Amino acid sequence: MQRAAVRALRGMRDPHVRAICAAAGTPPRGLLYERHGEPEDVLQLKELELPALGHSDVLIKMLAAPINPADINMIQGTYALLAPLPAVAGNEGVGRVLEVGPGVMALRPGDCIIPADAGLGTWRTHAVLPEDNLLRVPSDIPMLCAATLSINPCTAFRMLTDFESLAPGDSIIQNAANSGVGQAVIQIAKAMGIRTINVVRDRPDLPQLMERLLALGADRIVTEDALRKPEMKEIFKSIPKPRLALNCVGGRSTTEMLRHLQPKGTMVTYGGMAKQPVTVPVSAFIFRDVRLRGFWMTQWKKDHDKQSMASMVDTLCQMVREGQLSAPTCTTVPLEDFKKALAASMQPFTSSKQILLL
Ligand SMILES: NC(=O)c1ccc[n+]([C@@H]2O[C@H](COP(=O)([O-])OP(=O)(O)OC[C@H]3O[C@@H](n4cnc5c(N)ncnc54)[C@H](OP(=O)(O)O)[C@@H]3O)[C@@H](O)[C@H]2O)c1
Repeated sequence: MQRAAVRALRGMRDPHVRAICAAAGTPPRGLLYERHGEPEDVLQLKELELPALGHSDVLIKMLAAPINPADINMIQGTYALLAPLPAVAGNEGVGRVLEVGPGVMALRPGDCIIPADAGLGTWRTHAVLPEDNLLRVPSDIPMLCAATLSINPCTAFRMLTDFESLAPGDSIIQNAANSGVGQAVIQIAKAMGIRTINVVRDRPDLPQLMERLLALGADRIVTEDALRKPEMKEIFKSIPKPRLALNCVGGRSTTEMLRHLQPKGTMVTYGGMAKQPVTVPVSAFIFRDVRLRGFWMTQWKKDHDKQSMASMVDTLCQMVREGQLSAPTCTTVPLEDFKKALAASMQPFTSSKQILLL
């Protein structure tokens, strides 16, 4: 995977590929970093040289790519998966196929594609990548939905299905419920008949945020502070205690959330936005026998074949068509304004996924 990304970046200037890119609009450009550091310090918008189209390669015009927390951590050099430097940033996005090599079997010019894996470097206008690194998405899927499909909704889907066998009427609890993953959890759970208790941080525009999450299908929304308060008892008069807790925060928010998990329930940690450890009271183990698990989508992809990923993406696309899953609340930003988008993505309480238009 990383070899493919490096080849796509360092390839020789190929006149044929360049001519196609030029005909499609601009010369190939991308957001490159040569060393790790804060994104605003190390990212540069540069012209890229693309390799010739190999036997099994695909030339892509990228259309849109979100800025996710893992993209930032990769640039900072603090993520578990690091691209060899220099690297093009970005792990997710959607593109359109411009041309295919003679050995490409499943893709045709005009098809929409998303990355099948992390680390490809999606914050660029064009790329030449092996067919194996790509998944076709139906072209009736809205662009912003497709651009944000391969990581967060997949993570939400796996966490809701792989850890507890939940039945309609059961409930789950999650923190950072307004995140991209959180919004996907709310919608996928709703489609499965599972009720969601959603924890968010307090903020001046809390009523508007609550309205948005309720419109997505959230059953209950509580602030981190409310997790400690008696009002939680009211919730559990009409909703069963959750069998599953989804944690991407850490610190006190997580400890408080864990208090509400059913005995023998499972908490899955998939992120650490507060940059604080998960602290679990001894009593939670002894008297409630809670199970603590972790999830990483990148590892899941390594452990499963491409067909498993493709069939999950098909399921999610069907949910999009049926109006059960939509793109997260987002702000689109032209590639040239990437610094503005990066700054917004790293601010607290933004509540809007920044998506680069390429
Ligand atoms: N393990 C995996 O495979 C996997 C896959 C996808 C995502 N993730 C992880 O999931 C998390 C969410 O990703 P995303 O793309 O959905 O994020 P996102 O849309 O950018 O949203 C970030 C979320 O984090 C919250 N947050 C930030 N700092 C916080 C803090 N100190 N305390 C509490 N909440 C805080 C934000 O809440 P406010 O609105 O209150 O600021 C917001 O809800 C990230 O940690 C990401 O790395 C993991």
